[in-house]
Amino acid sequence: YDAIRDFPEQWRRGRELARDFDPGFTVEGKDHLVVAGMGGSAIGGDLLRTLVADTARLPVTVVRHYQLPGFVTERSVVIASSYSGNTEETLAAFEEARARGATVVCVASGGELLRRARAEGLPYLQIPGGLQPRAALGYSFTALLTIAEHIGLVAPDEAAWNETQELLEQQSEVFGDPSGNDALELAEALQDRLPFIYSGTGLMEAVNLRWRCQIQENAKRLASGNVYPELNHNEIMGWEYPGPLHEMIGVIVLRDREDHPRVQQRMEVTRELISDRAGYWAEVQSQGESRLARMMSLVNLGDWVSLYLAVLLGVDPTPVPLIGQLKETLA
Ligand code: F6R
Repeated sequence: YDAIRDFPEQWRRGRELARDFDPGFTVEGKDHLVVAGMGGSAIGGDLLRTLVADTARLPVTVVRHYQLPGFVTERSVVIASSYSGNTEETLAAFEEARARGATVVCVASGGELLRRARAEGLPYLQIPGGLQPRAALGYSFTALLTIAEHIGLVAPDEAAWNETQELLEQQSEVFGDPSGNDALELAEALQDRLPFIYSGTGLMEAVNLRWRCQIQENAKRLASGNVYPELNHNEIMGWEYPGPLHEMIGVIVLRDREDHPRVQQRMEVTRELISDRAGYWAEVQSQGESRLARMMSLVNLGDWVSLYLAVLLGVDPTPVPLIGQLKETLA
């Protein structure tokens, strides 16, 4: 609860920390930016990728794997992002980036990644430790976006930063009131259901993934999802025959005013066709003016929904025992 309630403070601090960081290079002469990371440390990369899709001076790719794609060369920038600094896939991608001669920057709270960055004299941004990686998104994402500004991938947009800060603060007040709010209502609706998160392709794509991961990790509940227009070409058929399975599903549609006009129509027609087959169907609209604020408004709502869902289900949202067991067994 504290980590989510204090998200606006983390956002502010993360921005301040990253503002003073000098990566020591620009995108001049580079042809690609790759963010390498896993889980809670990779999602900031996806948020960056979708946020700057139309404005970035280089294509942005997020790699969640041990290996980097073939296009990574000495003309690439690779940001290795691992909150713990000890994630094996990210460390392997880091080594591969080094071997290919890419320009490498590290973002971590500590661990092996920072040790190697220091030993090799690479630029690194150390973010505060002591949180679950997924709860440190305010640090990891502000780090990535600010680095993107520093290297000239995108122009800084102070108005968007300020709007987002204010909006997050307002949301914290509203959603932090456990006596009743929209996040709690959505969590109540999902309590006995399997959440399906739908959204458009584009700005809400990474937000959609964040909702699912937060429900899975915080509430320990499976969650599925898909995007328009693609889901109109396959997944919709899974709704063809109404039945008890569909009634167990709670659909949340994440909407943004910049969703493609045909996607908006598709969302409406799809709702008319199938929403009564689901146990629950709700739509939520992003808030704010800037793309950054709109994106973060629904990231934050999803975080709160996952927290309230955990409380309603009687599970502790913080620990992730299966992830821990898996890492230990593989070690
Ligand atoms: C746990 C979480 C995980 C981790 C992932 C990678 O809170 O969010 O998804 O982010 O296991 O670990 P890090 O972020 O330390 O590289």
